[in-house]
Amino acid sequence: MKQRIVEILRTGEPQTSVTIQGWVRTKRELKEFTFVEVNDGSSLANLQIVLNPDLPEYAEILKQLNTGASLEVSGTLVESPAKGQRIELNASEVKLYGESDPETYPLQKKRHSFEFLRTIGHLRGRTNTFGAVFRVRNAAATAIHQFFQERGFLWVHTPIMTASDCEGAGEMLAVTSLNLQDIPRLENSNQVDYGKDFFGKPAYLTVSGQLEAEVMAMALSDVYTFGPTFRAENSNTSRHLAEFWMVEPEMAFCDLTGDMDLAEAFLKYIFKFVLEKCPEDMEFFNDRIDKTVLETANNIINNQFERVTYTEAVALLKKADKKFEFPVEWGLDLQSEHERYLAEELFKKPAIVTDYPVEIKAFYMRLNDDNKTVAAMDILAPKIGEIIGGSQREERLDILQRRLEQQGLSIEDYWWYLDLRRYGSVPHAGFGLGFERLVQFMTGMSNIRDVIPFPRAPLSIDF
Ligand code: 4AD
Ligand code: MG
Repeated sequence: MKQRIVEILRTGEPQTSVTIQGWVRTKRELKEFTFVEVNDGSSLANLQIVLNPDLPEYAEILKQLNTGASLEVSGTLVESPAKGQRIELNASEVKLYGESDPETYPLQKKRHSFEFLRTIGHLRGRTNTFGAVFRVRNAAATAIHQFFQERGFLWVHTPIMTASDCEGAGEMLAVTSLNLQDIPRLENSNQVDYGKDFFGKPAYLTVSGQLEAEVMAMALSDVYTFGPTFRAENSNTSRHLAEFWMVEPEMAFCDLTGDMDLAEAFLKYIFKFVLEKCPEDMEFFNDRIDKTVLETANNIINNQFERVTYTEAVALLKKADKKFEFPVEWGLDLQSEHERYLAEELFKKPAIVTDYPVEIKAFYMRLNDDNKTVAAMDILAPKIGEIIGGSQREERLDILQRRLEQQGLSIEDYWWYLDLRRYGSVPHAGFGLGFERLVQFMTGMSNIRDVIPFPRAPLSIDF
């Protein structure tokens, strides 16, 4: 029976028969036999295969088993005399699936830079680092669903194509229904009106599923989305993608405090889950990528997050014994250097900043009684900066209409959103977690392009 290598290494008993499939990492030819290390992506560890010369077609097989080749091996498990591995596989049958020319295979035994590996994104999953990233990503996604499902939240599917700009920031990518064959011709004649042509109407890729999640929460109480979102930010930073995954819970009958409590419990849960599910991968990141990975994870799990208002944060930044590139002034948005100073240097743990000035936040956030700030909250993480953005939503029809108008948005376009305030409106709140920023935070990977299998960013669309 076929088994994953991770299970065989953990629980495989000597003298049992197994069949494995995977890719060759290394081959070591000795006089008496040959060792081949095989990995199938199930963990960092390779299974050592022992090939004896009495194997049928031994010489032929040896020639073809180069790094990168794919194979299936059947044989008997035996206790391994080598250090650091409990068990190895004595091959009785080897089936080669696909060979791999050692002269041209881009992955060599040496350590490759992440920049280089980005140019071979189709193969980088076969390295230790990227295998570990994608396993942690999977575990974190599982933790997210489990967290919400345990609490009775429904996973709702919000649309990818939309007509509304949730954040009102004008950073949307357009959708067009043009026939591909028409594009070169129209481009030449300047006839394409990109963004105004989804069968005659303007349409965009969603920047956030929040508004639709609010619709669902106003019927089902507690819901969450987990899907791709898109931003046309032409910024080449290590924390921005044009396509990223966002998790957006939305809760009816909930205020800002309830929102913050949920977000904090949520992050703690995911870290705990991933540490339990992927201990070897997390240790690998701690050893190879960032020596603070495990300390950070334990810090998140065991300590309460700091909570400060925006007004307090501005005062703390002004007092800081540090020269910032961007100005700190009440009314200006916090820049990533400010966010990182607060979380990384001052508090040394995640910080929740609340009650931002109304002018710098989206139209849907609930206006506070001071009429100057809104019930917003951002969670700032050491090394990353903003990882979660959320708020209590404006549930009062008249104020929401005024906010839309003030921001130059059309009341008609948001008729359905306003209806939610006309019929059975309730206080409600939610937040958005940038999933890739979370994976960065967990693994210590410094570039966001290295925590998603197929990064979409300016100049990064080919594969
Ligand atoms: O703060 P943002 O823009 O909030 C919203 O979109 C709200 N509608 C969420 C809600 O309340 N339901 O984005 C949320 C998070 C950010 O905190 C950040 O982690 C991530 O999404 N994010 C990005 N991640 C990668 N690349 C980008 N270009 C990102 N922009 C935002
Ligand atoms: Mg934000």
